[in-house]
Amino acid sequence: MKTNSKLFIYTCCGVIFFISFIGMLMYGYKTFYIETKSEPHKTYKYHFALIAEESDNDYWQLIKRGAKEAAKQNDIYIEYVAPEKADNEKMLKLLDRMISANVDGIVVQGIKGERFVNLVHKATEKGIPIITIDTDVKSSERKVYVGTDNFLAGKLAGQALLKNTTGEQYVGIVTGRFDALNQRERIAGFKQTIAGNDRIHIVDTKESNITVVGASQATYSLLKQYPKITALFGTSSLDGVGIIDGLEEIAPNKNLYIVAFDLLPETLNLIKEGKVDVTIAQYPEEMGSKAVSIMIKLQDNDILENRQYTGTKIIEKKDLLPDQAGDAK
Ligand code: BGC
Repeated sequence: MKTNSKLFIYTCCGVIFFISFIGMLMYGYKTFYIETKSEPHKTYKYHFALIAEESDNDYWQLIKRGAKEAAKQNDIYIEYVAPEKADNEKMLKLLDRMISANVDGIVVQGIKGERFVNLVHKATEKGIPIITIDTDVKSSERKVYVGTDNFLAGKLAGQALLKNTTGEQYVGIVTGRFDALNQRERIAGFKQTIAGNDRIHIVDTKESNITVVGASQATYSLLKQYPKITALFGTSSLDGVGIIDGLEEIAPNKNLYIVAFDLLPETLNLIKEGKVDVTIAQYPEEMGSKAVSIMIKLQDNDILENRQYTGTKIIEKKDLLPDQAGDAK
């Protein structure tokens, strides 16, 4: 081979290697979100970890905000960690990592399955208190659950549908993740409420992967498969917005009854515009701050009430002030 072609081949290999190496670094970095801003010079009373379902998700940002505020007021360092995209496996790894780091307490979304229960046991053995937030795992040794009564929240959604509709209803459910226990509890509460009422029929349930795009796609395929659908129920915070996007695409002139979840500003705007009929309120900021206050107490004593529910209720257009978006209470 001529020297020139050899040089050319070596250069190409070098470039390919360089690109793959950079890709590997970037991918590795993006797999988990770990807050890098540490404050080594200041000493804090306690170091807690907050493990969220998805790092940049608007709902989890509110939990983070509440937790950070309470931490600031109590001289606590709170480390916010989460997978970039919802993924139970990655959350379990983060939980294990925080246990190994010997933090003073861990606030974590409850995760389905035996491995979560085992990790909570491991933390308990090491004297690290665990609080589940947003989603509970009652069978684990978590000290306290802080969050919505998800079964009740599902029941409220069912009650709204029963009260505000007449005649036969064919309901499509758009749910965050089949793998998330809180989503299952909401659906179970909904089903219990409508059971025995023979005018309401659930036709199918599809996953949104807790993204607007996912909810929009789920809506699209539900409507395509079951054109007789008359109502849609979105069980996680971005589903309402995604449902409306999907509907505008596939059936812009159809008037369906829409039940959404949470009080994110986009959802409240859709209620004001009359596109979403009701939403089921949760109070994530309060969850974050309450979890931190309880974790402080747990440093000295176990507390008696191990289920600390934050509120939930039905919010409709009449509950919003004319210029209000984002803070219906
Ligand atoms: C749920 C969270 C979920 C979020 C997704 C909320 O309604 O409580 O578990 O992560 O929606 O956007």
